[in-house]
Amino acid sequence: MICEGLLVRGPSGPLVVPLGFSVVLPCYVDEPLPMEGLEVEWRKTDSTTLVHLLIYAEAQQQNYHDRANFFTDQIQHGNFSLRLDNLTAEDEGFYKCKVYTEQNAGETFVEIKVADYLLVSGLDESISASVGEDVTLNCSVDSHIPPEHIEEVSWRKTNGNIIILVFEKNKTLPADEQYKDRADFFTTEIPKGNFSQTEEGQN
Ligand SMILES: *[C@@H]1O[C@H](CO)[C@@H](O)[C@H](O)[C@H]1NC(C)=O
Ligand SMILES: *[C@@H]1O[C@H](CO)[C@@H](O)[C@H](O)[C@H]1NC(C)=O
Repeated sequence: MICEGLLVRGPSGPLVVPLGFSVVLPCYVDEPLPMEGLEVEWRKTDSTTLVHLLIYAEAQQQNYHDRANFFTDQIQHGNFSLRLDNLTAEDEGFYKCKVYTEQNAGETFVEIKVADYLLVSGLDESISASVGEDVTLNCSVDSHIPPEHIEEVSWRKTNGNIIILVFEKNKTLPADEQYKDRADFFTTEIPKGNFSQTEEGQN
């Protein structure tokens, strides 16, 4: 008879993660557990057909297409958190972490939600340039979304809301008169999610 009295802790709410990113699914106990007979099972609960992951701590098996890993040095401290890399849309859902010792068992649940926003990064500092100089304005979409799935990327001058460049349906649209032939994307960089633009100086 195994008593289900082990207090296993998890996160306090859903984990919201952008596609392609890594996430740590917390699962831990307050006091380290004896390694003897210890078993930790991570399962995705809302998928009936597949048990994505079943890991025995001692065996340190690493499945789930090499995307899910324990922090092996943490297991002895009662930390059975799992790192899941390269998040896909199918990873959304509920996960159960069940911990068994020889006499006791307990579980916790983790919900993963795929973030419905893209992480866009640029340069946080201001750029100084003299009149006539070219500048590169950085902007990249850190996601694993191929450019053909990107609806639109636009560069605007916020002061006056002038559209400088638009990338739409996998094409660059003609720019505003004022920026025509002066501003451009780095076309070869776009497949990498790099929507930086260069602006040629004007006297
Ligand atoms: C468990 O280990 C991970 C990875 O080192 C760490 O991020 C997390 O904070 C640890 N959790 C606890 C409760 O110690
Ligand atoms: C994007 O491309 C530009 C031009 O080649 C380069 O200067 C910039 O570092 C690239 N940004 C990233 C995030 O790779």
